[in-house]
Amino acid sequence: MYKIAVIPGDGTGPEVVNEGLKVLDAVSRKANFKYDTKMFDYGGERYRKTGVTLPDSALEEFKKFDAIYLGAVGDPEVKPGILEKGLLLKLRFGLQQYINLRPVKLYPGVWTPVRDKGPEDIDFVVVRENNEGLYVGEGEFKDKGTENEIALQISRNTRKGVERCIRFAFEYTKKRNKRKKLTLCGKTNVLTYAWDLWERTFYEVAKEYKEIQTDYTHVDATCMWMIKNPEWFDVIVTDNMFGDIITDLGAMIQGGMGIAAGGNLNPEGVSMFEPIGGSAPKYTGKNVINPLAAICALEMLLEHIGEEKAASMIERSVIRVTSEKLKSLSAGKMGCTTQEVGDLVAEFL
Ligand code: IPM
Ligand code: MN
Repeated sequence: MYKIAVIPGDGTGPEVVNEGLKVLDAVSRKANFKYDTKMFDYGGERYRKTGVTLPDSALEEFKKFDAIYLGAVGDPEVKPGILEKGLLLKLRFGLQQYINLRPVKLYPGVWTPVRDKGPEDIDFVVVRENNEGLYVGEGEFKDKGTENEIALQISRNTRKGVERCIRFAFEYTKKRNKRKKLTLCGKTNVLTYAWDLWERTFYEVAKEYKEIQTDYTHVDATCMWMIKNPEWFDVIVTDNMFGDIITDLGAMIQGGMGIAAGGNLNPEGVSMFEPIGGSAPKYTGKNVINPLAAICALEMLLEHIGEEKAASMIERSVIRVTSEKLKSLSAGKMGCTTQEVGDLVAEFL
């Protein structure tokens, strides 16, 4: 009996999570496993009513679950940064989900803005460090408000934090067993402290993985190659900030935010799975948002807890929906409602 904590969150989060839970119910019967969900109403609304984003006690409670399924975080009525830091980043940091795993995979029938590239070319995974870097929020103002103002924003990179991320990426590349190539994406030519540590650690760990081909690209060039030659990539490992940026680019070449999912992993603890697109306030309640990203996040969740068969059933079903049923993956242009897409995935299982 799996215990799954569900945080539908803000905006379109609850709508897409509903479709994910519909698919979970259906796949659990087919693949024969049992689960129990518990809902948590953390998000913008609760914050506006109570001033609480996520109490510390919630972190303790989440540790008792097998996984967390998250919809979206972000409320236009709440000042930017409060929910992001107080809820999403607090979960990622507080539960030591030090890996953000973001597959970039173009499914058959899905439109990509990269001309002349198809599913055989766009299939890689970004391993984003998820607990350090610029996201630690270290820094200060000096002489704020004066003409001499200075704002410092510090990127914290620890040997332990960098090494566990890089080790995860090597192991993942080995298990994935595709092109057996791991690319370090950094900025060694300018950020000479952080990326010196990353590069040294990368090549040290690489000695233990002779079967894995290693490569290095600067982050700006990575953006270029992701468009020009996406087929060069198998697994990319990078820091928190660069990972944030390149995975939005990745989401676009795999068909958009309607399909992009990610996992915040603590390999030794509880992990959290989410569509990476955000709360999309303008589409809230309209039944037009694409739930496939949330459904793909559920697929990752099931794979993570050991239900590989259920996960691949969902993937096959999603591929049928994208190749046979949807006009587009964009909100409002799918030719189906949010609920119909969920129904189709469940039906094709
Ligand atoms: C993401 C998001 C978050 C991030 C925001 C909402 C804090 O953009 O999951 O990529 O920057 O990590
Ligand atoms: Mn992002």
